[in-house]
Amino acid sequence: MSAAARQALLEHLRYLHELGIDAVRLPAAPAGRAPAAAPGSLPSHREEPGEGHGPLGAGADALAAVRQELGDCTRCRLSAGRTQIVFGVGDPQADLLFVGEGPGQEEDRQGEPFVGRAGQLLDKMIASIGLRRDQVYIANIVKCRPPQNRNPQPDEIAACSPFLMGQIEAIRPRVIVALGKFAASTLLGEEIAITRARGRVRAWQGIPLMPTFHPAYLLRQYTRENRQAVYDDLLAVRDLLQKSGPA
Ligand code: URA
Repeated sequence: MSAAARQALLEHLRYLHELGIDAVRLPAAPAGRAPAAAPGSLPSHREEPGEGHGPLGAGADALAAVRQELGDCTRCRLSAGRTQIVFGVGDPQADLLFVGEGPGQEEDRQGEPFVGRAGQLLDKMIASIGLRRDQVYIANIVKCRPPQNRNPQPDEIAACSPFLMGQIEAIRPRVIVALGKFAASTLLGEEIAITRARGRVRAWQGIPLMPTFHPAYLLRQYTRENRQAVYDDLLAVRDLLQKSGPA
C-alpha cells in the first residue's frame, strides 16, 4: 500500500472512530472482479465534464435550467423570511444524492445546504464511505429556511418539491439517501416513520433510495446504536453504488 493510500485509510478510520464506529466490515470482492477500491475511489460511470454537452456536462445544464425556473421564488410563505434561496451543492453528475429537510440559519446565511453542525456530521457520514462532499450532490426538500427552523408545512413542501424532482431528474443519481422523515416521506409519497423505515432500500422512480436518520437527529440522539444504524445504512448505500458501477 502506498504512503498516500495508507494516509487516506488512516483518515478514514479516524472519521469512523469519531462516528463511534470501532469495527469495519470490508466490502466483499465479487468473484473474478478486482477487490473493492480504497476509500475515496468508488467507481463512476458518469461522463466526463464537458463530454457532448455544455462546459459542465448534461447534469449541470439541466440543473441550471431547474434553478432558472425556480427564479426569485415567492411560491410559498417561506420566501418572506429567507436571506437567500439554498438550491443545492455538489457534483451535477453525482452518483449519490443526499436529500435533507430545509436550510437552517447558517445555510440561509451562506446559501449552501448542510454547512452548520448537522452539515459537519453529514460530511463525516459521507467520508465514512470514502467520498467527499464535492463528489456527491446535496439538496433539501424546501429551498428556503423555515422560521425558527420549524418543520416545513405540507403546502410549502408541495410548492417546492417539483424543483427537487427536477434536480433529481437532472442529476440522475444512482442512489438517493433521504435524510430523515420529511425527505423520506416527500420522496416516497407516504407518511414515513423513520425509525421503522431506515435501513430498508426503497425506490424513487427506479432509483434505489435509502432512508436514514437526519444528522440533526443523530446529533440530538448521539447513541452508539443510532450511529451504528446510520453507518450500516451508508455501507448498504456504498454496496449499492459498487453494484451499479462498471463491471
Ligand atoms: N438540515 C437540513 O435538513 N438541511 C440543511 O441544509 C441543513 C440542516
